[in-house]
Formats: sequence, structure tokens, C-alpha cells
Amino acid sequence: MATLITGGTVVSPTGTHRNDVLIDGEKIVALFAPGTGPQDVAAIDATGKYVIPGGVDAHTHMELPFGGTHASDTFDTGTRAAAFGGTTTIVDFAVQRTGEVVQDGLAAWHAKAAGECHVDYAFHMILGGVDDDALKAMDVLVADEGISSFKLFMAYPGVFYSDDGQILRAMQKARDNGAMIMMHAENGPAIDVLVQQALARGETGPIHHGLTRPEALEAEATHRAIMLASVAADCPLYIVHLSASKALAAVAEARDAGRNVFAETCPQYLYLTLEDQLGAPGFEGAKWVCSTPLRSKHESHRTDLWRGLRTNDLAIVSTDHCPFCFKDQKELGRGDFSRIPNGIGSVEHRVDLLYQGVADGKLSLERWVETIATTPARMFGLYPRKGVIAPGSDADIVLYDPAGRTRISVETHHMNMDHSAWEGYEIAGKVDTVISRGTVIVSGGTYHGRKGHGRYLPRGLSTYLV
Ligand code: URP
Ligand code: ZN
Ligand code: ZN
Ligand code: ZN
Repeated sequence: MATLITGGTVVSPTGTHRNDVLIDGEKIVALFAPGTGPQDVAAIDATGKYVIPGGVDAHTHMELPFGGTHASDTFDTGTRAAAFGGTTTIVDFAVQRTGEVVQDGLAAWHAKAAGECHVDYAFHMILGGVDDDALKAMDVLVADEGISSFKLFMAYPGVFYSDDGQILRAMQKARDNGAMIMMHAENGPAIDVLVQQALARGETGPIHHGLTRPEALEAEATHRAIMLASVAADCPLYIVHLSASKALAAVAEARDAGRNVFAETCPQYLYLTLEDQLGAPGFEGAKWVCSTPLRSKHESHRTDLWRGLRTNDLAIVSTDHCPFCFKDQKELGRGDFSRIPNGIGSVEHRVDLLYQGVADGKLSLERWVETIATTPARMFGLYPRKGVIAPGSDADIVLYDPAGRTRISVETHHMNMDHSAWEGYEIAGKVDTVISRGTVIVSGGTYHGRKGHGRYLPRGLSTYLV
């Protein structure tokens, strides 16, 4: 059963070309000069559309237990929302809680996701307790389970936190088995002091979440992680949810030295701010409580992050999708910002929000595709199966309409959230058609996919290292 996508403009990191794309079954089999492909197959008209690889969101937290509750999207609702937004692969974070056997945490994550996903999925592993057993488990996960990246936390003492000795040992292990260390780089013990002092002064509102997590404590942790990775014989290091200029400068310095140090940012840091969102009147700002926090609009963070995307000091845009409803979940922190569950939901909007950068002249079309699809696939061992429109790759394809418009609202989104962090945002551009492994799952805003279509993707090692 073959289908020819005709008349579109195929975008890849290396160029933008008019090509017809032939799909057979679940795979892309050939690209043709316009009008020269087979005539006796089904056709999808992509005239006027960009034909891009399906988005790869390398940072999601479906059903994450956190802050006394759990993220409100299940693998079912979250991957369906991802599909609507042109994301056809997610890499979610399985969790080893402190004291838990790593493989048990992984098994629990498989149990949550199996049969529930609408698009393909893979896992990173959060290590909540680095000890001898966990270090041995890292080898097993890389060799047998298709998990080649491990997230550690310099933040959240008492929850996911690792101390520097634990971090160093995990980095040494990763250096030996080829895995990537992903780092939540904020100085948690110092933040906890600032949080207690703020609460003691009666500063309880959402904006104090941001004010007690100053940029310096992200920059310090980022720098420390980079130095620890150098001590671990240059273990590959990936800084997650980078939000601020000084942390970016630390990454840029390491990259200029030729190190395997990488970073992602997220749409919220490119667009939203401490003052306008976190500082919204009353308790409203709770909607935007996430860590790292939104940064001040009076400083150069957003400009610097867009520049970092152009220079590749920021390689990837992921969402850090971790939704909590306002009612009943964010409400847990009314009167004490430190109890507001941390996270923002954006899995449905990443492709659109970054296309806005193209529309605004901040990013090239090629760089858009690279940061939302190709590099995440390469970084995390999914390439060339994902992230590229080429013969042999999975037929994960999005037809994107540059003449369309998207208005984001809780009234129209598909995420399981009672509000939108992006309410009222207007995007020049629109997801038109989404194809996952050869099946049209979204077309003209209508859903044709099904729960269980998405498969687990065992990953190889990163193919992005220098
Ligand atoms: O606020 C956030 N980022 N919530 C998700 C957990 C994490 O640290 O990534
Ligand atoms: Zn629930
Ligand atoms: Zn984190
Ligand atoms: Zn996260």
C-alpha cells in the first residue's frame, strides 16, 4: 500500500527542496522530482505545504508523580495531544525513585505506557539514587533495554537529588558505556535556603518560586556539571531545560573548547517571563511555576536563547511537558509557593511555537526542523529511523501550512489540562496533516489515530557526539 505526497516542499537541516515523497507501508521509500513519481498510487496533495519530519520531543513527563500529585496527562492523552501538534515521537523520563531498584522503576514506566500511546515513544531513565546497584543497572539498560541516557538532579534535595560524588560516579559509568548524562542543573541545597527564608518573610506567592531560584544558581550548577564531566574523562553531557544567559555562556564556553556538552531549551523560556506570567495577579502565576523558572524580561535571556538556537549552543527545543491542572493540583501551593507542583504543559504546541521563530525571522526553516526533529533523533540514538525524510526512515511526516494560523486555547487544545500556559497565543502557521509510520493520524484538525498505535523505540547510543 503506497502513497505519494505530491507538490510539497521538503525541509531538512541541509536544505529545502521541491520533492514528492513515496511512502510504502510504515517507511519512506523514495523522493522524486515533482511529478516524476509513480502515478498508480494513492496521493496526498501537499501543494503550498512544508513537508517535514515528524517532531521528536525529547523531554516529556507523562503521569510523573511529583509534588504530592502526578502530571495530568496520561500516555494516552499526552501522546494524542502530541500528535495534534505534529510530534510523532516522545522520549519520556522513566523514574527510579530513591531506594527503588532501577529496573523496577523502568518496568513501572513500561506498564504505564504499553498499549496507551498514539505515537512512538522511548525512555530516558531518571536516577533518583546513584549507588553500586544503580551503576550496574546503567550498563544493563544501555545494553539490553534501549535506554542510553540518564537524568540526574542537582536540585530537589530529598526527592531526586544527587550529590557531586554520585554525579561523578554516574558520569564515569556513562563515559565507559557510551551513555549520555542529562542534568537538571540548579543548586538545590542553596535554593532550599532561599525558599525557607522567603517563606519565613511571608513571601508565599508564585513569583517567589522564580525569585528563590536565581540565575546564578542555574549557572553555578551548569558550570559544575560541565567541570564534573571533564573530570569524568569528558563524559557526554546534556543540560536540560536551560533558561538563562549565564548558564548558556557556560555551555558555549565548553562547546567552544570542543567538548561533548549540549543543551536544550524549552518554548516557555523563549517567550514567557517572570514578570508577565509568574508574576500574574493573585495566584494566577502558579500556572507558570516550573524549574528552571521563567526569567526576567528586563534581562537578555530570551534574545540570548534565540541566538543560542542559531549558533547551536542550544541544540534542541523540547517541551519538558509536565502538566498540572490549576484546580486541585496547582492549588496545592496556595499560600506556599514551594508546594506548587512544578511544570508546564506544551507537548501540543512545540512545533508551532518554534515555527513562530521562522515567521519572525529568528530561525531558518532548516534550523527549525533541525532543532525540533533531526537533532533530538540524532542526540538520543533514534536516527535515521526518526528525524529525517529519507528512504528507509519511518514515514513520520508532518505537512505544515505556512499560510494557516493557529490560536492556542484551553478551549481547543487536547492536553488534559484545565488551562493553557499559552492562552490566546497566535501562531503564523498550522499543522495540516500528521503521518505516523505511514498512517495518517491527523488531517485538517480531525483525529484518525488510535491508542496503541505508538510503539516503544529501543534506542542506540547518541550519533551526535564530536
Ligand atoms: O518544572 C519542571 N521542569 N517539572 C518537571 C521535572 C523536571 O525537573 O524536569
Ligand atoms: Zn489523577
Ligand atoms: Zn528537570
Ligand atoms: Zn523535565
